[in-house]
Amino acid sequence: MKLADSRLGVLIFAATVLVAGASAWALVFGRDHHHGQWQTQLRAVQPLSAAERDRVEALAKSICATCHGAALTGGVGPSLTGIGNRRSLARIERILVQGKGKNKSVSMPSGLVSEADAALLARWLATR
Ligand code: HEC
Repeated sequence: MKLADSRLGVLIFAATVLVAGASAWALVFGRDHHHGQWQTQLRAVQPLSAAERDRVEALAKSICATCHGAALTGGVGPSLTGIGNRRSLARIERILVQGKGKNKSVSMPSGLVSEADAALLARWLATR
Protein backbone atom coordinates (compact mmCIF):
# COMPACT_ATOMS: atom_id res chain seq x y z
CA MET A 1 0.00 0.00 0.00
CA LYS A 2 1.25 3.50 -0.83
CA LEU A 3 1.77 6.05 1.91
CA ALA A 4 -1.02 8.31 0.52
CA ASP A 5 -3.49 5.39 0.61
CA SER A 6 -2.80 4.55 4.22
CA ARG A 7 -3.12 8.20 5.21
CA LEU A 8 -6.53 8.35 3.53
CA GLY A 9 -7.51 5.17 5.36
CA VAL A 10 -6.58 6.70 8.69
CA LEU A 11 -8.54 9.85 7.84
CA ILE A 12 -11.67 7.91 6.91
CA PHE A 13 -11.33 5.81 10.05
CA ALA A 14 -10.97 8.92 12.22
CA ALA A 15 -14.00 10.56 10.60
CA THR A 16 -16.11 7.44 11.17
CA VAL A 17 -15.11 7.27 14.82
CA LEU A 18 -15.95 10.96 15.25
CA VAL A 19 -19.41 10.66 13.69
CA ALA A 20 -20.21 7.47 15.62
CA GLY A 21 -18.99 9.03 18.84
CA ALA A 22 -21.02 12.19 18.34
CA SER A 23 -24.20 10.20 17.62
CA ALA A 24 -23.69 8.00 20.66
CA TRP A 25 -23.09 11.09 22.79
CA ALA A 26 -26.28 12.71 21.49
CA LEU A 27 -28.27 9.56 22.20
CA VAL A 28 -26.93 9.06 25.69
CA PHE A 29 -26.65 12.63 26.90
CA GLY A 30 -28.98 14.52 24.56
CA ARG A 31 -32.13 13.46 26.35
CA ASP A 32 -31.60 14.97 29.75
CA HIS A 33 -29.60 18.00 28.78
CA HIS A 34 -31.18 21.24 27.81
CA HIS A 35 -29.75 21.41 24.32
CA GLY A 36 -33.02 22.23 22.58
CA GLN A 37 -32.17 20.89 19.15
CA TRP A 38 -31.27 17.35 20.06
CA GLN A 39 -33.98 17.16 22.61
CA THR A 40 -36.58 18.11 20.03
CA GLN A 41 -35.23 15.60 17.54
CA LEU A 42 -35.30 12.80 20.08
CA ARG A 43 -38.57 13.84 21.62
CA ALA A 44 -40.70 12.07 19.01
CA VAL A 45 -43.49 11.55 21.50
CA GLN A 46 -46.17 9.16 20.41
CA PRO A 47 -49.48 11.07 20.23
CA LEU A 48 -52.23 10.03 22.63
CA SER A 49 -55.37 8.28 21.43
CA ALA A 50 -58.72 9.81 22.41
CA ALA A 51 -59.15 7.16 25.14
CA GLU A 52 -55.65 7.82 26.52
CA ARG A 53 -56.34 11.54 26.54
CA ASP A 54 -59.57 11.02 28.49
CA ARG A 55 -57.67 8.91 31.00
CA VAL A 56 -54.83 11.40 31.62
CA GLU A 57 -57.20 14.33 31.84
CA ALA A 58 -59.20 12.48 34.51
CA LEU A 59 -55.98 11.62 36.39
CA ALA A 60 -54.72 15.19 36.20
CA LYS A 61 -58.03 16.54 37.45
CA SER A 62 -58.36 14.11 40.34
CA ILE A 63 -54.71 13.87 41.46
CA CYS A 64 -52.42 16.55 40.03
CA ALA A 65 -54.76 19.55 40.15
CA THR A 66 -54.73 19.50 43.97
CA CYS A 67 -51.17 20.81 43.98
CA HIS A 68 -50.51 22.06 40.46
CA GLY A 69 -53.81 23.93 40.00
CA ALA A 70 -56.94 23.11 37.97
CA ALA A 71 -55.22 24.05 34.69
CA LEU A 72 -51.81 22.83 35.97
CA THR A 73 -50.55 26.40 35.81
CA GLY A 74 -49.21 26.24 39.35
CA GLY A 75 -50.31 26.02 42.98
CA VAL A 76 -48.16 24.65 45.78
CA GLY A 77 -46.50 22.72 42.93
CA PRO A 78 -44.94 24.58 39.97
CA SER A 79 -46.68 25.29 36.67
CA LEU A 80 -46.45 22.33 34.28
CA THR A 81 -47.11 24.44 31.19
CA GLY A 82 -44.39 23.80 28.61
CA ILE A 83 -42.64 21.30 30.88
CA GLY A 84 -41.66 19.36 27.74
CA ASN A 85 -39.37 22.24 26.76
CA ARG A 86 -37.57 22.12 30.09
CA ARG A 87 -37.41 18.40 30.79
CA SER A 88 -37.09 15.27 28.68
CA LEU A 89 -39.89 12.73 28.41
CA ALA A 90 -37.79 10.24 30.40
CA ARG A 91 -37.11 12.79 33.14
CA ILE A 92 -40.81 13.71 33.49
CA GLU A 93 -41.71 10.03 33.73
CA ARG A 94 -39.02 9.51 36.38
CA ILE A 95 -40.31 12.46 38.44
CA LEU A 96 -43.81 10.95 38.32
CA VAL A 97 -42.56 7.58 39.53
CA GLN A 98 -39.91 8.70 42.02
CA GLY A 99 -41.15 12.12 43.11
CA LYS A 100 -39.00 15.26 43.44
CA GLY A 101 -37.76 17.64 46.12
CA LYS A 102 -38.09 15.16 48.98
CA ASN A 103 -36.20 17.40 51.40
CA LYS A 104 -38.34 20.46 50.69
CA SER A 105 -41.32 21.57 52.76
CA VAL A 106 -43.66 20.73 49.88
CA SER A 107 -42.49 18.00 47.55
CA MET A 108 -43.67 16.03 44.57
CA PRO A 109 -44.74 12.68 46.09
CA SER A 110 -43.54 9.43 44.52
CA GLY A 111 -45.91 6.71 43.31
CA LEU A 112 -49.02 8.86 42.91
CA VAL A 113 -49.93 6.84 39.83
CA SER A 114 -48.99 3.42 38.41
CA GLU A 115 -45.94 3.20 36.15
CA ALA A 116 -48.19 2.76 33.12
CA ASP A 117 -50.11 5.92 34.01
CA ALA A 118 -46.83 7.74 34.70
CA ALA A 119 -45.71 6.91 31.16
CA LEU A 120 -49.03 8.12 29.78
CA LEU A 121 -49.00 11.33 31.84
CA ALA A 122 -45.40 12.01 30.78
CA ARG A 123 -46.31 11.70 27.09
CA TRP A 124 -49.22 14.06 27.65
CA LEU A 125 -47.20 16.58 29.67
CA ALA A 126 -44.28 16.52 27.22
CA THR A 127 -46.46 17.82 24.41
CA ARG A 128 -48.84 20.25 26.06
C1 HEC B 1 -48.87 16.92 47.12
C2 HEC B 1 -48.77 17.89 46.05
C3 HEC B 1 -48.51 17.39 44.66
C4 HEC B 1 -49.26 16.51 43.90
C5 HEC B 1 -50.54 15.80 44.29
C6 HEC B 1 -48.61 16.43 42.61
N1 HEC B 1 -47.49 17.21 42.59
FE1 HEC B 1 -46.16 17.40 41.07
N2 HEC B 1 -44.98 18.58 42.21
C7 HEC B 1 -45.30 19.02 43.48
C8 HEC B 1 -44.22 19.88 43.97
C9 HEC B 1 -44.17 20.60 45.29
C10 HEC B 1 -43.25 19.90 42.95
C11 HEC B 1 -41.91 20.64 42.95
C12 HEC B 1 -40.85 19.70 43.45
C13 HEC B 1 -39.48 20.34 43.46
O1 HEC B 1 -38.98 20.70 42.39
O2 HEC B 1 -38.93 20.48 44.55
C14 HEC B 1 -43.78 19.09 41.86
C15 HEC B 1 -43.10 18.87 40.68
C16 HEC B 1 -43.63 18.19 39.60
C17 HEC B 1 -42.97 18.03 38.33
C18 HEC B 1 -41.59 18.56 37.99
C19 HEC B 1 -41.70 20.00 37.59
C20 HEC B 1 -40.36 20.57 37.24
O3 HEC B 1 -40.34 21.69 36.68
O4 HEC B 1 -39.35 19.93 37.51
C21 HEC B 1 -43.82 17.35 37.51
C22 HEC B 1 -43.57 16.94 36.07
C23 HEC B 1 -45.00 17.08 38.28
N3 HEC B 1 -44.86 17.60 39.53
C24 HEC B 1 -46.11 16.44 37.79
C25 HEC B 1 -47.20 16.05 38.55
C26 HEC B 1 -48.30 15.26 38.05
C27 HEC B 1 -48.48 14.81 36.62
C28 HEC B 1 -49.12 15.01 39.12
C29 HEC B 1 -50.35 14.16 39.15
C30 HEC B 1 -50.16 12.75 38.90
C31 HEC B 1 -48.54 15.69 40.27
N4 HEC B 1 -47.38 16.30 39.89
C32 HEC B 1 -49.09 15.70 41.54
C33 HEC B 1 -46.43 18.72 44.20
C34 HEC B 1 -47.39 17.82 43.81
